[in-house]
Amino acid sequence: MTEIITPPLDMSAEDYLKYADEIARFIADYLSHPEAVSVLPNIAPGSISAALPQAPPKRPESMDAILADFKSILMPGMTHWNNPGFMAYFANSSPGPGILAETLSAALNQNAMLWRTSPAATELEETVLKWMAQLLGLNEMTGVITDTASISSLLAMSAAREAIPGLNLREEGLAGRPEVPRLRIYTSEQAHSSIEKGAIALGIGQRGVRKIGVDTDFRMRPDLLESAIAEDRAAGWLPFCAVATAGTTSTTSIDPVRAIGEICRREGIWLHVDAAYGGSAAIAPEFHWVLDGCDLADSLVVNPHKWLFTPMDCSVLFVKSPSTLRRAFSLIPEYLVTHGDATNYMDWGVQLGRRFRALKLWMVIRYFGQEGLAALIREHVRLAADFAEWVDSCLEFERTAPAPLSAVCFRAVAEPDASEERIQHVNQQLMDSLNRTGEIFLSHTKLNGRYTLRVAIGNIRTTQTHADRLKALLLEHLPEALRI
Ligand SMILES: Cc1ncc(COP(=O)(O)O)c(C=O)c1O
Repeated sequence: MTEIITPPLDMSAEDYLKYADEIARFIADYLSHPEAVSVLPNIAPGSISAALPQAPPKRPESMDAILADFKSILMPGMTHWNNPGFMAYFANSSPGPGILAETLSAALNQNAMLWRTSPAATELEETVLKWMAQLLGLNEMTGVITDTASISSLLAMSAAREAIPGLNLREEGLAGRPEVPRLRIYTSEQAHSSIEKGAIALGIGQRGVRKIGVDTDFRMRPDLLESAIAEDRAAGWLPFCAVATAGTTSTTSIDPVRAIGEICRREGIWLHVDAAYGGSAAIAPEFHWVLDGCDLADSLVVNPHKWLFTPMDCSVLFVKSPSTLRRAFSLIPEYLVTHGDATNYMDWGVQLGRRFRALKLWMVIRYFGQEGLAALIREHVRLAADFAEWVDSCLEFERTAPAPLSAVCFRAVAEPDASEERIQHVNQQLMDSLNRTGEIFLSHTKLNGRYTLRVAIGNIRTTQTHADRLKALLLEHLPEALRI
């Protein structure tokens, strides 16, 4: 006879308080000593999954057992983005107000797909994005929150494709239509890979993305963009979108958006600006210039989860014409039909269900205020400038790119006459050796084929002490890197 199992009840209020208290204490302790845990875990691939049961539990398990495994198996496998020594990629942060907002968001389990499935989440999203537009000087634009810049840019490119007149791509698609010319997107050699990925997803293909050359400071060259468009038109391509970057991933270079925008206007093509990292700088009045020319953009992405101190994940897509974005995506089956003219964010992208991400952005902006956020950005740029100056003053190191914002590209110079291969080897050794200390996490890139280390300041807890420690570790570990 089959055993009848009584359906379990959710956690009692008493237990909830007990474990919430335990977790809150764990978080408070973790965040008051973010350096106490190694920034990179010292583990081999596969070791975490080997320590986890390979089959799901049949019977309920106690929260004590679950939390014990969290601490003993998962914690040692974390890369600590909250460690102030995290200076790889673009650092990000999860400050207190963001963490608390995420807790509330999980508890209230809001789904901002339709206005009526969460009026508060929908209207807070509208309001906080109006604030963001004011903070960044993008007053002609309207925003929507997505998970990542990759998805925001994909949506922007979809709207750009929808805006092409006369092709009826939404209904007819691209394949099997000999009357439709090949579509072309333009972006710089330094653009993020998400632009190319978006083109792949949209059926434009990697060959449909033309990479425009950059100047000596890694900024897109408008003259080359203009000649590429003319050449493509002559060869039968259909140029429809250009993507400029305000804060490129490797060097934080800022493309001349105004000049690019003027070309786009003349050519009748959509301008999308990838300001995923750099856009946040415009919160400080002295960095408004980073978004100069963005009044000419049709869309722009900025990631509060990069340099606006908001926990993963939170990306904001701004568009000048929300109706074009909605035209690309709005599809309302009978079961989702509602009446009234409220915003239904499901019409603004691919996904139906949407997390209540506006809550954390709202709490972070309120908690720090425009001046607090600007002060953090300003300090990070100062720390990067100080580090760049130190590199310039050291015979052992050289800079490989200008540092206009909070990341610095540099490398050890190795021996006189060292080959590029040897310089790469030394710098790889140096980076690996620093990353093994558990105090610092650096990443790398290549610029004009030259291997380059990168320091990206962006974590809310990174201070001069951590930047100075990085300098000391570089000098301490260099002799060994040169010996190997
Ligand atoms: C300039 C730029 N754009 C886009 C992205 C992709 O960001 P996400 O991880 O939010 O998709 C990055 C990531 O670092 C980036 O630097």
